Formats: sequence, structure tokens, C-alpha cells
Amino acid sequence: MSTAATALVPALREVVGPLGLLDDAADTAPYAEDWRRLYRGRTPAVVRPANIAELAEVVRRCAAAGVGMVPQGGNTSMVAGATPAADGSQIVISLARINRLRDIDPIDMTMTVEAGMTLKAAQDAAAACGCMLPLSIAAEGTAQIGGVLATNAGGNTTVRFGNARDLVLGIEAVMADGAVLSALRRLRKDNTGYCLRQLLVGSEGTLGIISAAVLKLVPAMAEREVALCTVASPEAALALFGRLRREDPAALIAFEYMAGEGMGLVLRHIPGAVLPVAAAAHYALIELATPRRAAGLRAVLEDTLSAAMEAGAVRDAVIAESGAQRAALWKLREEHAEAQRREGASVKNDVSVPVSRVPEFLARARAACEALVPGVRVVPFGHMGDGNIHFNLAQPDGADGAAFLAQSHAIMAAVGAVVRALDGSFSAEHGVGRLKPYMMESWRGGTELATMRQIKQALDPRGVMNPGKVLPDAGGA
Ligand code: FAD
Ligand code: MLT
Ligand code: ZN
Repeated sequence: MSTAATALVPALREVVGPLGLLDDAADTAPYAEDWRRLYRGRTPAVVRPANIAELAEVVRRCAAAGVGMVPQGGNTSMVAGATPAADGSQIVISLARINRLRDIDPIDMTMTVEAGMTLKAAQDAAAACGCMLPLSIAAEGTAQIGGVLATNAGGNTTVRFGNARDLVLGIEAVMADGAVLSALRRLRKDNTGYCLRQLLVGSEGTLGIISAAVLKLVPAMAEREVALCTVASPEAALALFGRLRREDPAALIAFEYMAGEGMGLVLRHIPGAVLPVAAAAHYALIELATPRRAAGLRAVLEDTLSAAMEAGAVRDAVIAESGAQRAALWKLREEHAEAQRREGASVKNDVSVPVSRVPEFLARARAACEALVPGVRVVPFGHMGDGNIHFNLAQPDGADGAAFLAQSHAIMAAVGAVVRALDGSFSAEHGVGRLKPYMMESWRGGTELATMRQIKQALDPRGVMNPGKVLPDAGGA
């Protein structure tokens, strides 16, 4: 273990008290491994400050000692963004205890939430006031507001409400030297200099630690309709998306694509998962919702699906009749990541392309991967309405998981070549983290990467904020 970080532990314990610091290896281990179990780091301590003053003092002391800090929320990162280095040189700072709802205002339609509150708890608090926090991801019961903002999470309703970034009006953060940046304004209009909140959103803990934020709310939905369909092809799914958007663009809040392979894994691994339509190669999950009462969404959905069936795009469909059925349909989509984790080794490509090119992307990327790894199981699914596909791959049946993972860079390069040809992005919503900094030079090189480096240098000159993440040469291991 590194002496500088280890030597700092007693001083950090002094700041947060014995309940605010874990240093037993068994206690710190879950904080040192990523959700996908790709990386296992080590840390001499997980510090869990109880308030902003403690957080700022912890950062000040780490910074003064030149010790790297890894901010951590729910530790659900798909790119190992919250995992410390293996050499024990970094302190993990968990935001879990800084988790209060500071304010909620149904007139301003805003809530001020501390970073450690889970996304689900924030959604529930908004619902209790007749509002909705319009951000939803499968990990919402564990992911925290700070992590969601630091990764600029997208998710199931981005097609209607945008990414996390689109919901942030104000921010409070502890910067790399321990100074508190207090900008918790709830203004809809505020053009006063550089937009620091948006710089912190999506910075993956490399510029500062988000401690609280003001989030935009929308009115609670009064009507909701959820349908699961089998579609003839990805092209047919895209055509269905177009139909729904033309019918009632404001009501289309989710449009998700799933391939037969992923659905098969969910049915195999997730207890209680039941497929209410005939098994198929392609599925679309649709949610329409509106705050308007008696808006007639059911008729819109039924008419659109009937027309799509007549056109041969939709083959089978079921519309949920209750909240429980809506949840059961969503479970089939939301459990894809967990089902894949239970199946074994996987390579993930969280990519985006222009929405119109999703079908072409799916065909070309599948062909490229099957040529590279004969027998590979292609498990694409995701937020088709945003052009964001999780082009995930599972090891060939009976193959060795480690040998498969050893090919992950080659697989990602093959998928990346297709994404590049279609003018897409190598990371649509999961971020760069520790997994993908090596891609930054070729995808974001030149002035873009140089400017990012200048920002990092200006805000974190000692490189203590989440070293080894996002930027290719940010230090750490
Ligand atoms: P962590 O994993 O703890 O951290 C993520 C990054 O943010 C790290 O770089 C960390 O250092 C930094 N960070 C954490 N807290 C702070 C803070 N307070 N201040 C500064 N930096 C901080 N992502 C999507 O975008 N859309 C999805 O649909 C989606 N679905 C998912 C489904 C599952 C089952 C899982 C496991 C993950 C999914 N993710 C998705 C990925 C993940 O990015 C999100 O779950 C979430 O945004 C991460 O929140 P977290 O609190 O777990 O952050
Ligand atoms: C999701 O939308 O479920 C995820 O972001 C998951 C994944 O890539 O596995
Ligand atoms: Zn996703």
C-alpha cells in the first residue's frame, strides 16, 4: 500500500469520526471493485463524510498531501469510473451519507438534492409533491444523484426529457483544492459567465466532487400506456418509432429496442420474468405518458400498433392493463444488464449513431463481430429512440470467459470502426471512466482533447481528482 495515502488515514478519521471511515479490507473491498467485476482496486480507506464541511476538509487534506481521490456514488459505473487504482494510492470518497432533500418547490418545479440521495429516492420525493423527476435508469435504486450527474446519465426517458445534463439548474461542488463552489440557483435564465455546472456534469469526478444540485421537475404523468411488441426487423422498429412520434411526440417518453438474444438471457436468468408475446428476433418496448387527463393515449397506441401490424412492421403486441403489468414489461428490458452479468463474460459497446442509421449499424456491427469471433453471441439492446444501442456481446457457448475478454479491445475496435463510419460516438451514456481513456486520442484528439487537458490542468493542477479516468494521461493505474 502507498505510504502517502495510508499515512493520511488517521487525519481523515479525525475529520469524519470513526463512523465515517472504513479501513478494514473486508469493508473496503465492495467499494474497490466495479459493477461488472472487470477491475479490482485497493484503497487504504473509504471516507464517508456526513456533510459538506467534512467533505471539503477531507478533500483539502487529500489535496495537501497530493493523494488521489475517487468520488463514489452507487458504484454502478459501467466503465469502472468509481474504482480506485490497484496500487492502493487513492482514497475512495463515498457520498452516501450526504443524502438529504434540501428543498422541493412545485411552483418553481425544482428540487434541491444532495449528491448521495439515490435516483429512486429523488423520484419518490418528486412524486410525493405531484411532480416527476424525468430520469430513469435500471440502476436507479442504487445510483446516486451525484453519480448520475457526474456521468451525465441518459436512460429510458432521454428520448423525451433529455440527459441528466438537461435537468440541472444549479450545482454545489467541492473543487480539487477543497474550495466549495456554491451555485445552487434555480433560475431558468442566468447568463452570467461560463456555465460551471455543465462543466462538472459529465466530468466523471475528474474536476470536482458534486455535493448537491438543483434539478428541474415536470408535472406528474396522469396517463401512462406501456406496450411490448415484436417487430419484423430493426428497420420495422424504426418505422414504428417514426409513426409514434408523428402521432403524439410529447407523449412518447420511451422507445427501447431489444434483440431476441438478450430477451432469452433475461428469461433464463431473472426470476419472475415472463414473455407475454411469442418469442421473436426483435422487440420494441414503448411508453406513452402525459400529464393531461383523459388524453386518450390508449386509443393512440392501439391505432398506431394496428396500422403498423397491417403494414407488416409489428407482428405481435401486448398493452399493459395495470401498473403491475407495466412494471412486468419494463422488467424484461431493465434486467438485460443483470441477466448478461449472470450469463458470464461480456464486452459492452455503449454507442450512439444517428437514429436513422441504427438498423444499418446493427447489421454491420453484427457482421464485423461474427467475422472476428466465430460463435460470438450478439446481444444488442437499448435506447433506440436516442440512437443509443448497447451493442453487447457474450462469449460463444462453452468458450473460456477470460480468453473472450482478452479480445475485448479487438471487438471494440471492430464495432468502433462501424460507429465511426456512421458518424457516431464510442460512449453514448456510460462515459469514459477507466475502461476507455485509451480511445480518447483517436476519437477526441486534436483541439478537443487539448482543451479538455487545459481545463483539467486549470481546475486540478495536481491531478488528484479521480486519477486515471477519462483523460488518457491523467495518471493513476
Ligand atoms: P458511480 O458508479 O459511483 O460513479 C460513476 C462516476 O461518477 C465515477 O467516475 C465517479 O467517480 C463519479 N462520481 C460519483 N459520484 C460523484 C460525485 N458526487 N461527484 C463527482 N463525481 C462523482 N447509465 C446511463 O446513462 N443510462 C442507463 O440506462 C444506465 N443503465 C444502467 C443499468 C444498470 C443495471 C447499471 C449497473 C448501470 C447503468 N448505467 C446507466 C450506468 C451508470 O452510469 C449509472 O448507473 C449512474 O449514472 C452511475 O451512478 P452511481 O451513483 O452509481 O455512480
Ligand atoms: C441499460 O440501458 O440497461 C444499460 O445502460 C446497460 C448495459 O449496457 O448493459
Ligand atoms: Zn442504457
